[in-house]
This record gives sequence, structure tokens and C-alpha cells, in this order.
Amino acid sequence: MKKEKLVVGLDVGSTNVCAVVAEVRSFRRADEAGACSELNIIGTGKSPSRGVRKGVITNIEHIAESIREAVMEAENTAGVDIKAVHTGLTGSHIGCLSSHGVIAVKEKEIGDKEVDNVIDAARAMALPFDREMLHVIPVGFTVNGQNGITDPRGMGGVRLETKVRIITGAATAIQNLIRSCEKAGLEVIDVVFQPLASAETVLTPDEKDLGVAVVDIGGGTTDIALFQEGNISHVSVLSIGGNNFTNDVAVGLRIPANEAEALKKRYGCSMLSMMKDGEEVEIGHGGSKTVRRIPRSYLVEILQPRAEELFTLVKQEIMENGFHRYMNSGVVLTGGAVLMEGMDVMAENMLDLPVRIGDMGGVGNAADIPDRPVYSAGAGLALYGAGEELAESVSGNEKMFSGIASRMKALAGGLFR
Ligand SMILES: Nc1ncnc2c1ncn2[C@@H]1O[C@H](COP(=O)(O)OP(=O)(O)OP(=O)(O)O)[C@@H](O)[C@H]1O
Ligand SMILES: [Mg+2]
Repeated sequence: MKKEKLVVGLDVGSTNVCAVVAEVRSFRRADEAGACSELNIIGTGKSPSRGVRKGVITNIEHIAESIREAVMEAENTAGVDIKAVHTGLTGSHIGCLSSHGVIAVKEKEIGDKEVDNVIDAARAMALPFDREMLHVIPVGFTVNGQNGITDPRGMGGVRLETKVRIITGAATAIQNLIRSCEKAGLEVIDVVFQPLASAETVLTPDEKDLGVAVVDIGGGTTDIALFQEGNISHVSVLSIGGNNFTNDVAVGLRIPANEAEALKKRYGCSMLSMMKDGEEVEIGHGGSKTVRRIPRSYLVEILQPRAEELFTLVKQEIMENGFHRYMNSGVVLTGGAVLMEGMDVMAENMLDLPVRIGDMGGVGNAADIPDRPVYSAGAGLALYGAGEELAESVSGNEKMFSGIASRMKALAGGLFR
């Protein structure tokens, strides 16, 4: 019988730090088909993020404090001691490139060693000194010229080739994330490109096979990850998100940012055409002496152009290189900003593709969690962690840390490649 394990996903976002503690009964690896219903969330914690701008850490002390708060809340709700986490990274510094590796097969049969070697051959490329590889993802193998092979193990052949997608990030951004977690007293098991983790919870394997885009609209950034034939095919991070909507409202209605944020969350909508006649909202609660009533449409007139701008940029990203042609499963939206009324309808109109709001399909008890798009990134990190089989890292299993710590030090020292 499989032992129950605990995994913790820590999403250090521009607006919120979310920690998700999950129990894994049995788990699938990220590359295996089949829905995972065995991940149960047993605790969550959230705190306002301080010291992160547009996905990038700008103040380690402040963000470490936010991380501590979120983790403490998760510890209390789950009743466990959190020592190590899987954390996610985003920001406009993220890049994606393709590479190709070839080896001669000396054995009769291709095995794990040959697969490792050909992936190593593909990753052997020079990166600028200030960049690190976050992920090297094989997207298909070719044996003796026959391509389209997903798993070459067990096959015979003399020439093994692979195509890989390499996701890179700025070395300082990765190191700062690790340092912030360490300052908050946590070990980092792995740093995952955030949308890759979100995709774990919101996408089904079928969608990944057919072609799908995950668009995570957070506070500071909008992360786009495109999947095709089961694998990631393109990523891009836009420096625009929910905070831009809030700023527009604050400037447009001349109210403080905190009031603009509350107003947006309560009454915001991205489409004027969805307004009913006579709807009004009160403004002026954020410190000003006079409280005014304004038509709700004034608020929506401010929000709609920003939403249009956002989806125009998303569309450009998807149309570029003709990606829209294989987006057969359409677009899945996630991230806090998609909680605003009308975002999915506007996305569908503008992108001309089927759009749905991602729900945590890969998580057993997700229905109990409010504001799921806010937690999907954290839950995705937990699910990613489960797949990595490095899960016993919470609740006092010190033995686990020897390997993890050294890998982390290697990462911090720029030896990750
Ligand atoms: N009900 C709501 N209506 C509109 N916007 C909302 C709502 N709830 C949350 N948001 C917005 O979602 C954003 C935060 O989303 P999320 O927690 O996914 O971001 P983050 O992960 O912290 O940021 P990032 O991914 O950019 O680093 C904020 O801009 C917030 O205003
Ligand atoms: Mg986010």
C-alpha cells in the first residue's frame, strides 16, 4: 500500500503569496496520462504579497515576511509543520527555446541511460551567464529516422534523437526566490515555471493532446503557456495583469488604490454590454469625506478597454507563428483577475476560440476551496511536487533533505545545468 505523503506548493505572486498543503494518496507523474483525483488539499494560507513587482522579487526581507505569514496560516489549517516547498516562478525574463540532441545507441535496446544521454546532448547549449535552465522538456523522440515516438525505451536502433523545449529564467530572479524562501525558514525542493504548474491542475491530458492555451491572469503578469500533442510548445509572460485594472480605476475615479481594488472585485465587469440600466455603485468609502453614487457603467467603461488591451496582446501571442491553428481545445483562463465578471465572455469574443475558466480538475476536494483561480497556481505546484516523487519533505522527515539541499545549492551557485 502506498504511504500518504504531503506536498506543499508555494506560489509567490505579485499580489498574493499562496501556500497549499496537499495530501497525496497515489500520484501520477506529470508525463503520464490519466486524471489525478488523489490529491487532497488539507490546508491553504494566503497573505498579501509585499516586495514583488510583475512577478519579480524586489525586496527579499518583505517577501520573506509575506511567505512566513502564508505558510503559518497553511500550517495552522493543515495541522502540519511545513519545512520544504515547491515554488513557482514567472516574470517577463522567462524565455523558451528549442534544441535537438542526437546520440549513437551502442546497446541492443534503448533504455533509461540512452534517454538521459540524448536529453543531456540536447541541453548542451551555451546560455548567457545570467540565465539558468528551469526545465528541459523532451517533446518527442526519433529512432533511426522514425519520428513521433513518445517513449523510445525498449526499442532497438542505432541513432536516437530528441527535440526538447528549454524554459530559461534570469539567474538572479531564481536565486532571489530561493533566498526569500530560505529567509522564511523553508527549503526549496524545486523551482517550477508557474504556468507549467497551473496547467497541472486546470488542464486535462486530452486538452494537452488536442492543443490548448493556459492563460494565467495574475496581479502583475499574464502568463501564457501553449500545449500541443501533450507537451508545452510555447510560453510567454506579459507585464500586464489585474493590478493594471485597479490602477485604471484609481486614476479614473480619483479614489485610493485600496478602494479601487475593493470596488473592482465587488462590482467590476469587463463588458459594458453586460450592464443593466440603473445599476449604481457607491464610491468615497476609502477615506474621503463625501460618498458619491455613480452609475456602475462608469466603472465598467474604465475596465473594458484594459480587458480589450489584455486580450489583444494574448491574441497576438497565440496568432503569432500560427499557434491558433492547433488550439483545438481552446483557451483555459486562470489567475485571480479572471474572477471579474465577463472576462471569459470577452476572451471568447476576442480570441475567437472556445474559452473556459479553469477549475482544479486534478484535485480531489477542490470544490471546498473559495476563489479557486487564486489557488490554482499553488495547487498546481503541489501537484507538480507530487509528480516529482519528492513529497515527504514536510512534517519532519529530515532524511529527505540531503539530496534536495545539494541540488538547491547547485542551483543557487549556477550549476543547475
Ligand atoms: N473578484 C475579483 N474580481 C476582479 N479581480 C480580482 C478578483 N479577485 C482577485 N482579483 C485580482 O486578481 C489579481 C491577483 O491574482 P493572483 O492572486 O492570481 O495574482 P498573483 O499570483 O499574486 O500575481 P502574478 O501571477 O502576476 O505574480 C489581483 O489583481 C486582484 O485584484
Ligand atoms: Mg500568479
